[in-house]
Amino acid sequence: MALGGKRILLIIAGGIAAYKSLDLIRRLKERGAEVVPVMTAGAQQFITPLAVGALSGGHVFTEIFSREDEQDVGHIRLAREADAIVIAPATADLMAKMANGLADDLASTVLLATDRPVLAAPAMNPKMWSHPATRRNVATLAKDGIRFVGPAAGEMAERGEAGTGRMVEPLEIVAALEALFSEAADKPLAGRRAIVTSGPTHEPIDPVRYIANRSSGRQGHAIAAALARLGADVTLVSGPVSIPDPTGVTMVHVERAEEMLAAVLSALPADIAVMVAAVADWRVATSAEEKIKKTPGEGPPTLSLAENPDILSTVGHHAERPRIVVGFAAETQTLIENATRKLERKGADFIVANDVSPETGIMGGTRNEVRLVSRDGVEDWPDMDKDAVADKLARRIAEMLAKA
Ligand code: C5P
Repeated sequence: MALGGKRILLIIAGGIAAYKSLDLIRRLKERGAEVVPVMTAGAQQFITPLAVGALSGGHVFTEIFSREDEQDVGHIRLAREADAIVIAPATADLMAKMANGLADDLASTVLLATDRPVLAAPAMNPKMWSHPATRRNVATLAKDGIRFVGPAAGEMAERGEAGTGRMVEPLEIVAALEALFSEAADKPLAGRRAIVTSGPTHEPIDPVRYIANRSSGRQGHAIAAALARLGADVTLVSGPVSIPDPTGVTMVHVERAEEMLAAVLSALPADIAVMVAAVADWRVATSAEEKIKKTPGEGPPTLSLAENPDILSTVGHHAERPRIVVGFAAETQTLIENATRKLERKGADFIVANDVSPETGIMGGTRNEVRLVSRDGVEDWPDMDKDAVADKLARRIAEMLAKA
């Protein structure tokens, strides 16, 4: 039982969904968890500490400035001695406080003081959930590593209102918590360092123009996140992309290939390198310091190109070569021959080959169909989400490292 013996700090904030938290306490206890409840002042308008205490079977914490409670455990101990913190319901107000680091009551103080995993089950009116302020706060919290379950869509407590904002059912919260614990126990890459490159590079022509490509960074970012989830200490070197930084990785933002190479080399030594970036093969030999003017009658300027450093190959042949080096081969023709050649030429252990012909929609899209090329042969992976490709690759890397 994943929750057996776990101490769960349950923060109940002020929303009508608080009544479901009573059932949540029962469900958690049924699974062998110890539940330590913290209630906000708002929560006590909906359900009583008496009911919460009767179900949890222990003390209910409500006050930050309670001499009795502070002597007994203290808010810092409350924050640290739990195996996980669950916020149910998580109100717009409490999430706004968390996103801004406010600590003006026991619940918000515990949340600021904790280093434990936090799972939030939001509950609010759909208009509040979709408000730009809430959207910003949720994005900030997700970036800070807070996990969310729900909200769900459906009827609201307010008559005639429907939309997304209902707290999910207690059993869904329990399942999300179990998933969080089994993920936390599953860290085969703990203690390993990884470097991932992602996105395109921009090679300047002059101060306003550049050479670029259609890479979105989705696959590279997903791989960085997947390696981090398995416990690796990940440095993600990204070219200019419009997607958010993944959580739990060290970001280095660069523009040009030469900057990307420098960032990768300074992140060595590492156990794993996954070079996913669509690095421009060429840069403009000398980019103009001023914007190049169009002069009537003079015709277009000639751009002379210079070859960019090959980052994958540099890492693959480096004195501090990581144990596992993975490259990508985005091709529109003769995929496997090219990938196999790349394996040797670039000093890689794996080449993830994909067909990026425009009709596949892979470049810039969210799905990917890849073939994993190694010295042992070629494996065809089915068409998957880029996140699923990332998870599968991260697992494979972990297995390889365990064997090595
Ligand atoms: O040779 P090609 O560009 O097809 O090789 C693709 C692989 O090499 C990718 O893993 C890409 O990240 C890497 N690469 C690189 N530096 C370059 C060109 C490609 O790291 N200058």
